[in-house]
Amino acid sequence: MNFKQKLADKISRTIPVRLNILRESYSFCKQLVKYNGSVNTNKNIKKMQYTLLRENHVIEKGMSMKNPRKGFGQKKVKALILRLSEYTDKYYATDKEFLLHPISTIHQYIEYTKANNVEIREIEILYNLLLDKTNYKESELFHSTGIKKAYKKEILKNCNTTFESLLKSRHSIRYFDSKSPSQSLIEKALNLAQLTPSACNRQAWHTHTFWNDKSIDLAKEQGGCKGFENEIKCSILVTADMNAFLSYEIHQAYIDGGLYAMNLINALHSLGLGTIPLSCGFYDYKLNNIKKKFDIPSNESLIVLIGIGNLKDEFNVAESSRKPISLTNQFH
Ligand SMILES: Cc1cc2nc3c(=O)[nH]c(=O)nc-3n(C[C@H](O)[C@H](O)[C@H](O)COP(=O)(O)O)c2cc1C
Repeated sequence: MNFKQKLADKISRTIPVRLNILRESYSFCKQLVKYNGSVNTNKNIKKMQYTLLRENHVIEKGMSMKNPRKGFGQKKVKALILRLSEYTDKYYATDKEFLLHPISTIHQYIEYTKANNVEIREIEILYNLLLDKTNYKESELFHSTGIKKAYKKEILKNCNTTFESLLKSRHSIRYFDSKSPSQSLIEKALNLAQLTPSACNRQAWHTHTFWNDKSIDLAKEQGGCKGFENEIKCSILVTADMNAFLSYEIHQAYIDGGLYAMNLINALHSLGLGTIPLSCGFYDYKLNNIKKKFDIPSNESLIVLIGIGNLKDEFNVAESSRKPISLTNQFH
């Protein structure tokens, strides 16, 4: 083959693939601009509800830490009440029931904060105005919001009995016993998680396990565990190798990586360890910083960081109540 033929051959092999990837990226970009929750958030009821659920969870999560700062979260609660008021103005007629859960969380937060002898008069006034505006009475609010107690004895009894009891006994845990988990248990969980199904059995997941200071440093860098970074003395960063996937499956690394991560979390739980998934949903520059700092190859997509610890005898977890399936399933 002469030079010209070689060049033509190379172009015909490489250009179509690159164009396909470009087309897929462009199509995804268009979907993002239309559907991403950050774009025109309050003009779309679903986007507004999802972002409110997120802000609601921040309050629950704050109460589920080992030693929440006295009077924590007041700015965030005020902002949440104001957004709920805006939601009421816009969408009350369309979906008033949605308000019950966040309003109940705020109620719990007020009770919790007052029980800690912190004065939050302004929040109480705003909360009462919101109740008036929404026509809800305190007796109608949910009681299963905020935090609940969890017990090691109960969890160890249920985490490996039936699949149902495993799922029902797992919680995100934000503080642990001071003794780190043993390497042999971590290895056992990793071996169990290898049984995760993957597209064409490519098993593109990778894991990076960190201990002690490195793990705490990584948790600090992740940033979603403010106030409990020092609890994360063991962590596994789950990644997926982008090399495994072709031009028509550009999101598959996140799908296979996500399935693997959930199996790993359940495997760790089944062995009696506590876990907290920590998000890797960040802008590219932050992900690249993490990769550089923690020696993660650039071809790996970061899926989730899993903080792991031994259970304390008794601890608090966020309620994190779930939607009924009528809101998330459609029978076709
Ligand atoms: C992908 C993912 C990322 C998460 N990131 C964080 C995080 O950064 N910080 C945190 O405290 N919790 C985080 N969580 C925990 C969720 O808040 C928790 O799973 C949710 O509220 C449900 O509660 P449960 O795990 O106790 O059932 C994350 C969970 C997932 C699945």
